[in-house]
Amino acid sequence: MPPYPLPDFRPVSYSRVTLTELMIPSYANFGGKIHGGILLSLMDKVAYAAASKHAGTYCVTVSVDGVNFLQPVAVGELVSLLASVNYVGRTSLLVGIKVIAEDVRTGTVKHTNTSYFTMVAKDDDGNPTPVPGLLLETPDDTRRFVEAIKRREFNADYHRQFNDARTGMQADSLLHLLETERCQLGY
Ligand SMILES: CC(C)(COP(=O)(O)OP(=O)(O)OC[C@H]1O[C@@H](n2cnc3c(N)ncnc32)[C@H](O)[C@@H]1OP(=O)(O)O)[C@@H](O)C(=O)NCCC(=O)NCCS
Repeated sequence: MPPYPLPDFRPVSYSRVTLTELMIPSYANFGGKIHGGILLSLMDKVAYAAASKHAGTYCVTVSVDGVNFLQPVAVGELVSLLASVNYVGRTSLLVGIKVIAEDVRTGTVKHTNTSYFTMVAKDDDGNPTPVPGLLLETPDDTRRFVEAIKRREFNADYHRQFNDARTGMQADSLLHLLETERCQLGY
């Protein structure tokens, strides 16, 4: 249990956080661009900050959705991660994170990705613990909440369908799929 009683509902704005970090040379890969893992680590950090603020407890990362780095980030750019709780279940929270990178010399801002982290609140014994409900303060808050419901449904459908397809899938009967792929059988 948290050390003090939690409210029934908390507004989205209560846990909205922005993390800004300068991309220094030690974050770069051999091509001079920023390692994807650096951005993932920052996303995990900001997701934790938003989720634990809303929950009022320690939280853990359970799953990550929609990590596609569409544009490279360069050394010297200022990366900002804007996070808010989009959806809450009983003990889980979905945190939406928008990542933008700014070239400080030109002022150009690019949107590198938007990702969704599912976090679960834990009590002091490490068990999942209920979180406050979400007070939706704007039409955007409502849109994100409804989209999160749909994303959960689509993910659940995808996993169910894929598991059904895998059950009874005979690799030998699918060898024709390799004909147009860039692989060779070495056995
Ligand atoms: C995630 C975890 C808490 C689930 O524990 P559990 O005993 O199965 O608990 P429950 O079944 O009650 O699930 C708790 C919540 O997690 C959600 N959940 C569980 N697995 C999930 C998954 N794969 N994806 C999304 N949500 C998931 C459940 O829907 C539930 O949400 P709700 O209470 O809002 O309905 C547990 O597996 C865990 O602690 N995992 C390790 C997480 C961690 O340490 N992360 C850091 C990475 S090193």
